[in-house]
Amino acid sequence: MTQAALIIGASGDIGGAIARRLAEEGWSLYLHYNHHEAPVTALVAELAAAYPRQDFIPLAYDLTDAAHVTELAAQLFSVDAVVFAAGMTYYHLFTATTEPELTALMRVHLVTPMLLLTHLQEKLARSGAGRIVFIGSVYGGSGSAMEVAYSTVKGAQSAFVRAYAKEVASLGITVNVVAPGAVDTKMNQMFDANALAAVQDAIPAARLATPPDVSYYVAMLLQKEAAYLTGQTLYVSGGWLA
Ligand SMILES: NC(=O)c1ccc[n+]([C@@H]2O[C@H](COP(=O)([O-])OP(=O)(O)OC[C@H]3O[C@@H](n4cnc5c(N)ncnc54)[C@H](OP(=O)(O)O)[C@@H]3O)[C@@H](O)[C@H]2O)c1
Repeated sequence: MTQAALIIGASGDIGGAIARRLAEEGWSLYLHYNHHEAPVTALVAELAAAYPRQDFIPLAYDLTDAAHVTELAAQLFSVDAVVFAAGMTYYHLFTATTEPELTALMRVHLVTPMLLLTHLQEKLARSGAGRIVFIGSVYGGSGSAMEVAYSTVKGAQSAFVRAYAKEVASLGITVNVVAPGAVDTKMNQMFDANALAAVQDAIPAARLATPPDVSYYVAMLLQKEAAYLTGQTLYVSGGWLA
C-alpha cells in the first residue's frame, strides 16, 4: 500500500501545489476542502489519471466547526502525514477586530487542527515515520500591522510545533512549520497591483513566492530521511522579514 497524506486546504493554491508534488512522489492523498469543491474534484480527476496506482479521496469540512472532529478523523483509514494548508486573514487595524473573527482565526489555524491531531496521533505513529507540517507565515515570527490577530495565530502554530514535537519524537513523528513570506495566491487578491508591487520591492529575492516554492519544502519534510528535523519553523520568504 502507498503512504497516505491528508492535505487540509487542498482546494487552495498552496494546498493544491502540495497535492501535485506529493502525488508525484507516490503519496495517496485525502484532499480536504471547505467551500470550494470544484478545485478538488478537478485535482482528483487529474491525479487519478496521472497516478492510477494511488488513491485520491476528497473530504469536506469547515474548520470553524471544532465540534465534529471525531467524525472527520473516523473517515480516515490510514494516515502517515498531515499537512495543514488551510487559512484566511482579516486585513484591518487591530481595534476593528471582532470576537467572531478571533474565534474563526483560532479555530481554523489552531484549535481544530490541534484537536484533529489528538485523534490522528495513533495512526501517524504506526509507520514510525509520521509527519506533520503546518503552513505558517513569516508574520508569525515578525508580526504584521493590519494583521495582528492573523500574526498571533501563525506564531502560535510555531509554539505548538515546538512543544508537540518533543512529545512525539520518540514515536518517530516530526512536527514542523513551513512559513512562507508573500505567495502569489488568491489569498492576496484583496491587494491591488500597487500594494503588491510595494511588497515585491521589499523582498530581497525581488518576487513573490509561487506555490511550488512552498510545496518543495513540505515534500522534503515528509520524506523518511527527514527524520531528525522537528519542532522547527522553516522560513521560505526569499529573505523577506527573516
Ligand atoms: N498567500 C500567502 O501570501 C501566504 C503567506 C503566508 C502563509 N500563507 C498561508 O498558507 C495557507 C494557504 O493559503 P493560500 O495562499 O493557499 O490561500 P487560498 O488559496 O485562499 O486557500 C485557502 C485554503 O484554506 C481553506 N479554508 C479557508 N477557510 C476554511 C475553513 N473555515 N474551513 C476549512 N478550510 C478553510 C480554503 O478552503 P475552500 O476554498 O474550499 O473554502 C482553501 O483550501 C494559509 O494557512 C495561509 O495563512 C499564505
